[in-house]
Amino acid sequence: MTTSTPLTTALRTADGDRVVYDLTGIETQYDTLLRELPGIKVRFALKACPVDEVLRCLADRGAGFDAASPAEIAQALRAGAPADRVHYGNTIKSDHDIAEAHRLGIRDYATDSVEDVTAIARHAPGARVFCRLATSGEGALWGLNRKFGCSPEDAVRVLTTARDLGLTPAGLSVHVGSQQMTGEAWQQALDTLADTLTALAAHGVVPDHVNLGGGLPALGYRDLRGEPLVPPLDKILTVLREGMDRLRGLTPAPLDLVMEPGRHLVADHGAVRAHVSRLTRRRRPDGTHDHWLYLSCGKYNGLYEMDQVTHRLVFPTRPATDPYVPAVVAGPTCDSDDAYGGGRHPVPVPAALTSGDPVWILSAGAYATSYMTQGFNGVRPLPSVCVRGDTDGSPAPSSEERH
Ligand SMILES: Cc1ncc(COP(=O)(O)O)c(C=O)c1O
Repeated sequence: MTTSTPLTTALRTADGDRVVYDLTGIETQYDTLLRELPGIKVRFALKACPVDEVLRCLADRGAGFDAASPAEIAQALRAGAPADRVHYGNTIKSDHDIAEAHRLGIRDYATDSVEDVTAIARHAPGARVFCRLATSGEGALWGLNRKFGCSPEDAVRVLTTARDLGLTPAGLSVHVGSQQMTGEAWQQALDTLADTLTALAAHGVVPDHVNLGGGLPALGYRDLRGEPLVPPLDKILTVLREGMDRLRGLTPAPLDLVMEPGRHLVADHGAVRAHVSRLTRRRRPDGTHDHWLYLSCGKYNGLYEMDQVTHRLVFPTRPATDPYVPAVVAGPTCDSDDAYGGGRHPVPVPAALTSGDPVWILSAGAYATSYMTQGFNGVRPLPSVCVRGDTDGSPAPSSEERH
């Protein structure tokens, strides 16, 4: 990363560890998605980045939110989204959660069981419900299968029950798994959605929307061996465009198409500024030596997903001519899982790193702030800071700090 951007400037000038979000980058990513999928309604999965300023900038652009709890619903409303642009997207909710969402004015609820839909009818009378269909999770780094979603036959049962209980059977949804790396997964999900729409029509149920879920990938991750993970984004978007047209052709009434991207909007527009705790060289019992690079930031304070993906590291104060050594990268806590790639895959790092040297951890904007523990080993959650470029390209720094 050599060019100067608001993000790199904020990372360079930071006087301590933090997560930095580039609001302009997030807005551009949102605008690009709207252009790529004409007519799509975006409900940002706010669990991926529950930072007020990020939510405000998306709400201002017309995005709605996929919220997973009453607390997330309240945060989405505070960010300025009207209640009809916020849905309760979690199939798991207690009676109390449903009643609270209803009190907050939420109309649309995800469901996947008769038990849940019966509770929605009782605690959010007259609500609109959409039924989540199960997917295989194949092709995704995080499958999100088994725990959520039902079969097409069950979806017919759930949505006809909803109608019988006075609810509006408003839609269907899927989630193909997070960081989905294949177009085939969406193709399969679209086939299932099409078959289910047809089955529902035979029961007189005509949904007004289909929610294609999250799963759109980040582009800047590396795999556990440090090789770039290159998702076929163009192919995925083509499958989605064609699938959207096909679904629109299947219903007699207009069909809205919704998506709930999380990581795709924020991952590549957030980075962590951490520092080197220590670079060590140790002799193992078998007589070999290895290097370990311990950072101030790891699984419990910003890099929760480091067991599945690795992030590109930049050492901004080391000259490019420095010699490198292979080192296992790890976080600062007492947990041995707090390491890149399970601690088994070294990556090249400058051999002369010393304690306190700054490190930039790129493409770390998704799930960084939400998956931070409150003080495991006394490691404090990182504050987050938002920046944006002004008209001459220079940053207007730091508008939010959160602990
Ligand atoms: C219901 C739902 N929608 C959307 C998302 C966002 O997924 P992603 O970050 O892969 O886009 C998630 C993530 O867990 C989810 O559970």
